[in-house]
Amino acid sequence: MSALPKLTPITSPWMHDLMEEKNVLNELLEKHESPINIHQTDAMEENFNSYKSVFEEFGLKHKVFFARKANKTKGAVQKAHQLGMGIDTASYQEYAQCLEMGIDGSNLIVTAAVKNRKLIEKAIDNGSTIILDNEDECILLQSVAETLDKKANIGFRVSGFFVNKRKLKSRFGFDLLDIEPFISEKLIASDRFDRLVYKGLHFHLNGYSLEERSFALTQCLSFSELLQKKGMITEFIDIGGGILMNYLKDQKEWDHFNQQLFKAVGRAIDPITYENQGLGIESWDGIMRGELKTYPFWNTISKGDSIRKILSHKTHTGENLAEIAKKLEIEIRIEPGRSMLDQVGITVAKVAFRKKDSSDDWLVGLEMNMTQMLSGSADFLLDPFVIYQESNENELAVKAYFTGAYCLERDVLLKRKLDLPKLPQVGDLVVFVNTAGYMMHFFESSAHLFPLATNLIWNRTIENGEIKATHFQNDANL
Ligand SMILES: Cc1ncc(COP(=O)(O)O)c(C=O)c1O
Repeated sequence: MSALPKLTPITSPWMHDLMEEKNVLNELLEKHESPINIHQTDAMEENFNSYKSVFEEFGLKHKVFFARKANKTKGAVQKAHQLGMGIDTASYQEYAQCLEMGIDGSNLIVTAAVKNRKLIEKAIDNGSTIILDNEDECILLQSVAETLDKKANIGFRVSGFFVNKRKLKSRFGFDLLDIEPFISEKLIASDRFDRLVYKGLHFHLNGYSLEERSFALTQCLSFSELLQKKGMITEFIDIGGGILMNYLKDQKEWDHFNQQLFKAVGRAIDPITYENQGLGIESWDGIMRGELKTYPFWNTISKGDSIRKILSHKTHTGENLAEIAKKLEIEIRIEPGRSMLDQVGITVAKVAFRKKDSSDDWLVGLEMNMTQMLSGSADFLLDPFVIYQESNENELAVKAYFTGAYCLERDVLLKRKLDLPKLPQVGDLVVFVNTAGYMMHFFESSAHLFPLATNLIWNRTIENGEIKATHFQNDANL
């Protein structure tokens, strides 16, 4: 069988330094008796600067909030805070933990999809801005603020934007067509919500379209002009997250993978995925349909460049969005999660067994499960690294799948069949890179009472040129 498509990930020197140190990795896995997620947060500075520099280029008032929902560690939050970012929180637990870490309420925003009384009380008490999604939340905030005898800083989440006459559907936020009458009737003409202090508008769009984000921001800017005429001043517009990052080194590999997947699903070549799964592509009676339903792991406009593109968008007046925001003295906010964690984490697990399945495919079982490295899209399309404990050069190359520990046929860690230089042995290590954004935490569960992976923070202290297991701090103890 011919070579399988490769998808070579972008990596950082720290990852390779660590992969050279198999004794340290062995020791850490032994000590924690679970898979390990290693975080090295230096890259967050470059990621942050990529955004910051673009806002500065436009001379715009701005604030970047790290969406901590993308990764559970305190280490990442502390780094974001040190860099001067705010933190976007999505639950009472995320919010309260930030306060415990010493972050001031003025640097926190609450965008939780469900906000209970306990969260609202704490957020109002600490003066954080709360992004409101519906009228029931307004009622809850008013009631809590009255009880506390305080005011509550709020932003309205807006959705239902129009993009080339198409309306973007969302289950979140106030519809663009309803928000104006709502504010006019319930905030301006009535004292029903007199404890709520309007500060700004917010949206977070599904997917990664820059065009949709430009249109949404255009509509929010126009709406804030309308509000200004009614005496309501918009201090900020928060355009949320969903800002792309690029995971892959080589566009040619990405294109080749896409072509081969198409051919394999159409049965023109041997399968390149487990059970010939199409990851969104299907063949119906020989007719190909559908599209790849994974994250766009290869893309050309990421991080700061995406923001530049959105802010440079010109409206019918010929002005761009940055100019309009500046004229209206509106601060532009963003909430990147995934892209802020680019190059920040790896996940390491040990090989438990090898076997051939009934299709004569090699399965390499790992001491981890599918929830410990899981993409919200159809698959995580990056080649992993194998660290062989022994260097036996005489063994032959194999094609294999990595499988996990849950009693589910579908616990296959990566759907892609992979070319390996030789069959891993029991005890060898497999390293999945760039997993800090969503992959390691978002779906993790502990069925069968398996422990969750241990989160370690490595600040890259190298004593006398040596990396030691003691340099890795357990995030739980930070
Ligand atoms: C309100 C909100 N803000 C920010 C984010 C972060 O998005 P991303 O990690 O894609 O940047 C999300 C993700 O779901 C979100 O729902």
